[in-house]
Amino acid sequence: MASASLITLFSPLLLLVLLLAPPAQAQGPAAPAPGPAGPFNLTGLLDKAGQYTTLMRLLNSTGVGNQIVNQLNNSDQGMTLFAPTDNAFNNLKPGTLNSLSAQKQVELVLSHVLPKFYKLSDFPLVSNPVRTQATGQDGGAYGLNFTSLGNQQVNVSTDQVETQVNNALTQVMPLAVYQVDEVLLSSELLGTKSQSPSTSPTTKTSNDGSKSDSGAKEPTAADGTNAGGRINSGLGIVAGLVLLCMGILS
Ligand SMILES: *[C@@H]1O[C@H](CO)[C@@H](O)[C@H](O)[C@H]1NC(C)=O
Ligand SMILES: *[C@@H]1O[C@H](CO)[C@@H](O)[C@H](O)[C@H]1NC(C)=O
Ligand SMILES: *[C@@H]1O[C@H](CO)[C@@H](O)[C@H](O)[C@H]1NC(C)=O
Ligand SMILES: *[C@@H]1O[C@H](CO)[C@@H](O)[C@H](O)[C@H]1NC(C)=O
Ligand SMILES: *[C@@H]1O[C@H](CO)[C@@H](O)[C@H](O)[C@H]1NC(C)=O
Repeated sequence: MASASLITLFSPLLLLVLLLAPPAQAQGPAAPAPGPAGPFNLTGLLDKAGQYTTLMRLLNSTGVGNQIVNQLNNSDQGMTLFAPTDNAFNNLKPGTLNSLSAQKQVELVLSHVLPKFYKLSDFPLVSNPVRTQATGQDGGAYGLNFTSLGNQQVNVSTDQVETQVNNALTQVMPLAVYQVDEVLLSSELLGTKSQSPSTSPTTKTSNDGSKSDSGAKEPTAADGTNAGGRINSGLGIVAGLVLLCMGILS
């Protein structure tokens, strides 16, 4: 019975979703020519910027550099990379990198990559924690939190470090690369392998757990490759508009 009405309900809904989705990227006046048509030369970018030799070595040895370039070619979402400087790596406790297994090194690098293009001005709007490329492998782990301090100042944090998101090496769709002065270590990376999905609070008492955790089952996290935050925050609007549309249609 309901199929016809479902269609009339859904087509405006889809339209609205399409209309609501892109504003973050549409914001910039003209976003012309994403530059090089061929494969994106991430190594070249970091090389030119200097002070990223350790990161470049890791991107190469872990294969993540190639993965990023391939994904940039195949995704319309773009990507964001947080690039720790050589100083950042030097400031790690001695032996930290070498103590990581090959797999953990991959996860380390992936945890600096977001599967979506974010301009600096997008971060104040995201809903924390934001999934990284490492998140998929561990279901819920390796999220990054962003806090904005007014204007353009943005901090990124894990449960181990907090640092400013500095200097954009590039900020042109499809790739944003931001300097960070600390390696974004997390307890997932360093700690005991807590593979369980509910990596709940031994460290922190969840103040008002009602909203934040309930981590066991979160279907949205599984399918939404990213941008879950936007969609969530948009849902209320969509619902409102749908109601409006239904009013108009009837
Ligand atoms: C980019 O992707 C297209 C298809 O999606 C493929 O044909 C092309 O070879 C890819 N280019 C590179 C450099 O990977
Ligand atoms: C990327 O740039 C570096 C120098 O910055 C160059 O040596 C390398 O050949 C370039 N790679 C590609 C695939 O263009
Ligand atoms: C990347 O790693 C490969 C081996 O995995 C090596 O042959 C190559 O020289 C490395 N490239 C750079 C720029 O370090
Ligand atoms: C990140 O933010 C979420 C939501 O605000 C919070 O539940 C979580 O504890 C934060 N994680 C860290 C490591 O601060
Ligand atoms: C942002 O991070 C820096 C550390 O780089 C810290 O000193 C500062 O207090 C943080 N700001 C806020 C509001 O958390």
